[in-house]
Order: sequence, then structure tokens, then C-alpha cells
Amino acid sequence: MAEQGKELKIFTTAQVKEHNTKSSVWIIIHNDIYDVTSFLNEHPGGEEVLIEQAGQEATEAFEDVGHSSDARAMMEQYKIGTLVDSERKPDLPKKSDPEWKESSGSSDVSWKSWIVPIAFGFVATVIYRLYFMS
Ligand code: HEM
Repeated sequence: MAEQGKELKIFTTAQVKEHNTKSSVWIIIHNDIYDVTSFLNEHPGGEEVLIEQAGQEATEAFEDVGHSSDARAMMEQYKIGTLVDSERKPDLPKKSDPEWKESSGSSDVSWKSWIVPIAFGFVATVIYRLYFMS
């Protein structure tokens, strides 16, 4: 996707792998490629962790840290491209995605959760009528 007129190039993992030293650090996060060379000494998590991931897929490491939405917005300026279709991985969920979304398909579970309060209300009504209306 081209954002703000910035053109994103298509790269292969082999091309990314060449940028695995401190002088040029590229990483892959969620199938997009980031050149974080100029960000190394600004990264609040330190340059070492980025250099460790240099030239490779870092989605899991990135998500494990639980980066903030600020961090995610910050990433955009280092994005230089995206992976070729044939090498894209099924995307990992972003930690900021609400997890309850995944279970929203099971509608009969939420339906059953109404039975207990409705039955309780019914029983309470019957007891009330028997007790007060006799
Ligand atoms: C372009 C990519 C990245 C950006 C823009 C970025 C940005 C940030 C920011 C802003 C923070 C401060 C805390 C927060 O706001 O969440 C942070 C912390 C951190 N980041 Fe990154 N980060 C990137 C990639 C990575 C990667 C690939 C790793 C791999 C392990 C990593 C590991 C860490 C660690 C360990 C911390 C410290 C967490 C803490 O002290 O609680 N980051 N990063």
C-alpha cells in the first residue's frame, strides 16, 4: 500500500537477509520491511535487540514485547517495503487486537447465557405472586 505518496517496494527474504549488520538493519514485521538503521540508537528497547533481529523475521519478538500504539505509529516512518506474495506468512495477530473478537462466531453460547437470569426471574415472580397475592 502506498501511503502519503511514499512508494513501497517489494522485496524477498533473501534481499532482507543482506541487511543484517549494524551498518544496515532491515527487519520484517507483519510481512512489511523496515529499515531501522537510523532508529538503532533511538529505540527505547536498545539497539542490541534490533541488531539481533537484523535481516530476519521479527514479528514474534516485536509482538512479545507488547509494543504500544505509539510504537506502532512510529514504525510507519521506517517502512521501506513489503514481502513478495510467495514469501508472505499468515499474519500473526497484533496484541492490540481485542481477543474476544475471535469467539464472536459462537452465538449459541451467548444465547445460553440468558437462560439462567431468565429462569431466575421467572422463579422469583412465581414466588412473589404466591407469597403476596394469596
Ligand atoms: C520499527 C520497529 C520498532 C519500533 C518503532 C519500536 C519502538 C519501540 C518503542 C517506542 C518502545 C518503548 C515502549 C513502547 O512504546 O512500547 C520500544 C520498546 C522496546 N522494544 Fe521496540 N520497536 C521496534 C522493534 C522492536 C523489535 C524488532 C524488538 C525485538 C525484540 C523490540 C524490542 C523492544 C524491547 C525489548 C523494548 C523495551 C520494553 C520495555 O522496556 O518494557 N522492538 N520499542
